[in-house]
Amino acid sequence: MPPEMMCALDKDILDFFARKGKEGQTGDPSAKNANGLKVRRIMQIVRDLAHKPIEELSVLDLACGEGVYAIETALRGSKVCALDARNQRMEQGANISERLGLNNLSFVQQDIREVTLKSQGEYDVIYLLGILYHLDVPDSFNVIKNLYAMCRHLLIIDTHISLSPKEEIRYETETYKGSKVREHKDDDSNAARTSKLLASIDNTFSFLFTKESLVRLLRDVGFTTVFECHAPLEPFKPRNRITLIACKGLPVQISTYPWVNGITEKEIESLIENEERLKIKEKLRNSKGVKQYATNAVNGILRLLGYEIRRIV
Ligand SMILES: C[S@@+](CC[C@H](N)C(=O)[O-])C[C@H]1O[C@@H](n2cnc3c(N)ncnc32)[C@H](O)[C@@H]1O
Repeated sequence: MPPEMMCALDKDILDFFARKGKEGQTGDPSAKNANGLKVRRIMQIVRDLAHKPIEELSVLDLACGEGVYAIETALRGSKVCALDARNQRMEQGANISERLGLNNLSFVQQDIREVTLKSQGEYDVIYLLGILYHLDVPDSFNVIKNLYAMCRHLLIIDTHISLSPKEEIRYETETYKGSKVREHKDDDSNAARTSKLLASIDNTFSFLFTKESLVRLLRDVGFTTVFECHAPLEPFKPRNRITLIACKGLPVQISTYPWVNGITEKEIESLIENEERLKIKEKLRNSKGVKQYATNAVNGILRLLGYEIRRIV
């Protein structure tokens, strides 16, 4: 693969993206421009894992904000669609895109909860960055399910997770753990909600999955592998935020353990647990048999002397 060529952007555009880096941080001066690390991580994942050269990919960037990930991806030649429920920041991104002559990038104002295979079609790679934790249940379940249907290969998720789950939510046949987080006050008007540019578009609460539950949900909807990205490093990433890559592939067929084919990990787990339970029962039964044998043998001798061992209950 040839080395990547960098596009030289003008000072105004670089300043615009630098401001985003500073906005996102919590007053730590060393964290200035830390957003560059986040963008680098996502681009490296796409370059390393996508099954086509980046200039041949179709990419969907959901809840794109000003669209830095979409712009960086479009600069590499992919066909990109970026969407967000709010237009304020997206408009700025669209202006930059126009100045850069990126006719392979389009911006659409749309609510992620309405994005379906029917409305948007299929994409090789889908970005779900900084948005899953702004959705409430059951919306997040439906969104993940819709994205599975729309994804040809990779779904890249960057999200906050719950480290101390308080709730269990039932969806279809499964239970997932996490915590509710407040996005807006109960009596906030629609206008007040829309004006909080980084928050949920309208839902009062959002739901943060635990890492275990989110990985399981991705597997349950059909993704064949789910990875967590640890490098490229993100030194300023909080402990409760992770990058996951869900890959939609073909399920493997195992020759050395054919009984695992076509059944879920949960079914395998309960089969193995049942087998263990049966083994323990069998052991207990056998140990009772040994005891009885020993008692009979001793009683045989004792009876000759006029005694006998009996259990008194
Ligand atoms: C924290 S920002 C993340 C922006 C960008 N993805 C990034 O990582 O830099 C959250 C974005 O989600 C958008 N958003 C919130 N609720 C949405 C919804 N239901 N549908 C689409 N976008 C939504 C907001 O307008 C905001 O731009």
